Amino acid sequence: MAKSASVATVVFPRDNDALERLDHRAVPRNPLDLFDGWIADARDHGAGEATYVTLATSSPEGVPSSRTVQLLAVEEDALVFTTNADSRKGREMTATGRAAVSVYWEQTSRSVNVTGVVAWADDDESDALFAAEDRGVQASRTVSFHGEPLRDEAEQLTRFRALLASGEPIARPAHWRWFRIVPDAVTFWEAVPEALNLRVHYRRDGRDWTSQAVQS
Ligand SMILES: Cc1cc2nc3c(=O)[nH]c(=O)nc-3n(C[C@H](O)[C@H](O)[C@H](O)COP(=O)(O)O)c2cc1C
Repeated sequence: MAKSASVATVVFPRDNDALERLDHRAVPRNPLDLFDGWIADARDHGAGEATYVTLATSSPEGVPSSRTVQLLAVEEDALVFTTNADSRKGREMTATGRAAVSVYWEQTSRSVNVTGVVAWADDDESDALFAAEDRGVQASRTVSFHGEPLRDEAEQLTRFRALLASGEPIARPAHWRWFRIVPDAVTFWEAVPEALNLRVHYRRDGRDWTSQAVQS
């Protein structure tokens, strides 16, 4: 028995006619240029949290899982993130070498889906990026382990506060690392309520990309 009184009917996102419509004949060569532009468009249309995305991973046996993470940068050929490498997602990305990312922006009625290969940043790069973080973020990453049972909340909070107050530099815990997803496929989706929704699919072809319109 459903909790709500009835099953909802499908509601299509509304159109956003302030935006340039996705045109498969005029997309950039590099899909990450388009992704970057769509993040900017989402922000311009009021999305305060345009870079919170869903990151999906899979166990080697094929059991999927997903969670929200922050996309920290869009580079020429990669998306940059940070996480606990010993978390479920971290272990799964190390084991399979692959991940997928999904985002939908209500403000622009657009969505992007990415699949790609995972590349962990080396220790020097992770050290430099950790050193640039806010001290509170550094301290929380030092005392808190994703997914571990919370056994002694008071003790954890005491260690967190002591670290914050110590005045000493906080070293990056070995498990906290940055990583890149180097996409091999990227799909852009845009709502067109009065007609058929638009989709453009990019596939990596060696060092270059091919793109085509696909049915939505
Ligand atoms: C808005 C938001 C942003 C988040 N950003 C990150 C992030 O950038 N990196 C991260 O590891 N976890 C982030 N988290 C926490 C994850 O969603 C998740 O709870 C945690 O990483 C453990 O995931 P796992 O056990 O599936 O590996 C964020 C959660 C939310 C709701």
